[in-house]
Amino acid sequence: MTNEALTKIMDTSDEWISSRTGIRQRHISVDENTSDLATKVGQQLLAKSGLQAEELDFIIVATISPDSNMPSTANIVQANLGAINAFSFDLTAACSGFVYSLAVADKLIASGAYKNGIVIGADVMSKIVDWTDRSTSVLFGDGAGGVLLQALSETPSIIAESLKADGKRGVCLTSNRTQPSSPFSTHNLSDELYLKMDGRAVFDFAVRDVPKNILETLEKSDTPLEAVDYFLLHQANTRILDKMARKLKTDRSKFLANMQEYGNTTAASIPILLSEAVASGSIKLDGSQKIVLTGFGGGLTWGTLVVKI
Ligand code: ACO
Repeated sequence: MTNEALTKIMDTSDEWISSRTGIRQRHISVDENTSDLATKVGQQLLAKSGLQAEELDFIIVATISPDSNMPSTANIVQANLGAINAFSFDLTAACSGFVYSLAVADKLIASGAYKNGIVIGADVMSKIVDWTDRSTSVLFGDGAGGVLLQALSETPSIIAESLKADGKRGVCLTSNRTQPSSPFSTHNLSDELYLKMDGRAVFDFAVRDVPKNILETLEKSDTPLEAVDYFLLHQANTRILDKMARKLKTDRSKFLANMQEYGNTTAASIPILLSEAVASGSIKLDGSQKIVLTGFGGGLTWGTLVVKI
């Protein structure tokens, strides 16, 4: 759905959206739910890897737009794939969900207890944004992406990580807030199901806290900034990426971007970007490149992984 198409349903313009965010279009699911998108990713990963569904040990789905709280989206994907030997669970960390999940999956594999696992970031944001609020609904899109992890060698792929959270600032980005409403409740508070955002506060958080986190993680991994081949950051806004590149004094072209085509797909943004970078040959998957993966968003949550892939 292009920015122009949105002008038919709300008072907005391509100029406003693209100049502030870089977003030109987004994909909106008509009828598919989060588990449908995530299942397709799982099927593609199995086909590419040649693994059978029964060989999977675990499935993690990072999402803030699950089909339901119970069963989890990951449980639905497990059934759809026929991954009868896998345990599965959702992980809620908004736009940091993929990075958090990858860090968790890495530990599961590194423990020696599990050999093969899938990590998927999937969000159907179009069902949780308030379509009467033009300041948030234009920013988001629906999507899913993922990776398959295998225990193949003793050499770690994640060479440093730093995951962060600050629940005290959580109120600047919220969704699906529900109140106790039993016959015994003493208050009359209403639920706030749709996404709400203080855009300025989120922007400031992203450009203040996230570059520090990237530098700290690079330092842990003994990787100088110049040695990073690509920075794959959560795709919220091109202005955030521009500022990030300036703050890190790094060539802007190393910050890959595709939010112009997909909008902000929350937990799906980094794996979609990664998948496209692999398809285009920018990322080779031959162990020769150092890549920074950084998520940031609701919670507040943020985190960086330095990976050698
Ligand atoms: N179309 C046209 N006008 C709009 C729209 C729209 N879709 N939305 C808001 N406006 C109007 C507002 O009503 C306001 O009008 P007014 O001045 O007459 O009151 C005006 O545009 C300015 O609005 P601001 O919110 O001040 O615009 P700002 O320059 O701050 O940009 C934005 C807003 C793009 C959301 C910015 O704050 C931002 O990039 N924040 C980062 C947050 C983000 O990317 N969040 C994504 C989710 S979180 C995450 O992924 C980390």
